[in-house]
Amino acid sequence: MIFDHPSQPFFLVESVSTLYPMTLETIQGNLYDYPKYYDLVYGSDWKAEFDFLEDCFEKHADVTIERVYEPACGTGRLLVKFADAGYQIGGIDLNPKAVDYCNDRLDRNGYARAATVGDMADFCTAKPIDAAFNTINSFRHLATETQARRHLECVAKALRPGGIYVLGLHLTPTEIEPMQEESWSARRGNLAVISHLWVTDCDLQCRRETVGMSFDIYSPTRQFRIKDEVHFRTYTHLQMADLLRSIGTFDVTECYDFSYDISNPLEVGPASEDVVYVLKKRAL
Ligand SMILES: C[S@@+](CC[C@H](N)C(=O)[O-])C[C@H]1O[C@@H](n2cnc3c(N)ncnc32)[C@H](O)[C@@H]1O
Repeated sequence: MIFDHPSQPFFLVESVSTLYPMTLETIQGNLYDYPKYYDLVYGSDWKAEFDFLEDCFEKHADVTIERVYEPACGTGRLLVKFADAGYQIGGIDLNPKAVDYCNDRLDRNGYARAATVGDMADFCTAKPIDAAFNTINSFRHLATETQARRHLECVAKALRPGGIYVLGLHLTPTEIEPMQEESWSARRGNLAVISHLWVTDCDLQCRRETVGMSFDIYSPTRQFRIKDEVHFRTYTHLQMADLLRSIGTFDVTECYDFSYDISNPLEVGPASEDVVYVLKKRAL
C-alpha cells in the first residue's frame, strides 16, 4: 500500500514494484548523507507545510511569531522559506552533511548560517524562540523515552510562554492495519530521484519499527540506488498522550493530519496514523 506524505513532490509513485528495478547498481549508505537527493524529493513541495505552519502561528500562538526553530532541520528545505518570508530562523541536525547543505543554501541566499550540528535531545537556543516545528517523523528517530523527554524539555525551555511547537509524526494505529510502504519521485532538469520506504519489522513491545529506505538516482551519467535502514520509536495515541502529559509544560492545543488543513482539526484516536500535534507552552 502507498500512503500519504506531507510533502507532495512531483508525483506519488503508483506501484512500488513496477518502479523498483532490481538491476540498479546498489550502494549501502545513510540517505541523510545525500542532502542533494533528499532535498529534491522532500523539498519539491514545501508550500503546503509552510502555509499550514503559518496558519498554526496565526491561530494557536499567543505571541507574535518572529523567531522560528526547527529541530532535526535536515537540508533546511522549510527554514530557507521562513528566512525568505522575513522570520529569524535557526535549526539543529545531527547530520553534518545536511547542515552544510542547509547553511550553504542560506549563505547563497544572503542569510546567516543558522543551522548547527547537534542533538535535538540536548540543545539550547541563544535567544528564546516563538515557534518550533518538526513535521515528518524526525521525532521518532529518538530511540528512547528519555531522549524523547529530553527533546521536549529542550523545546519547552527554548520557547517563550504562549509559543508553539508543531510536531508531526506517524502514530501506530491500534484499530486498523498500519500503512507499510510509500514511494515518491521528483525530477529537476536531468536528475530524477525515486524514494522508497518500507517497513521490515515492527516490535511494539520494544517500541521499535525498522524501515528500509532507498533512493534510486537517475542522471545522464549514472543510475544507481542508495539503500539504508533506519529505526523509529513507535507511539500509539495513548503513549503519545502519556508522554506529553508527563512533560507538564505543554497544552495540546489542537491536532491535524498530514493534509495540513487548518480548518479541519483531528480528533486523535485508535485509528489515527498521521498526526500533527500543536503544543503550546503554558504561561509560567
Ligand atoms: C526525515 S529527516 C527530516 C528533515 C527535515 N526536518 C525535513 O522536514 O526535511 C530526519 C532528520 O532527522 C535528523 N536527526 C535524526 N536524529 C537526530 C537527533 N537526535 N538530533 C538532531 N537531528 C536528528 C536526521 O539527520 C535527518 O536530517
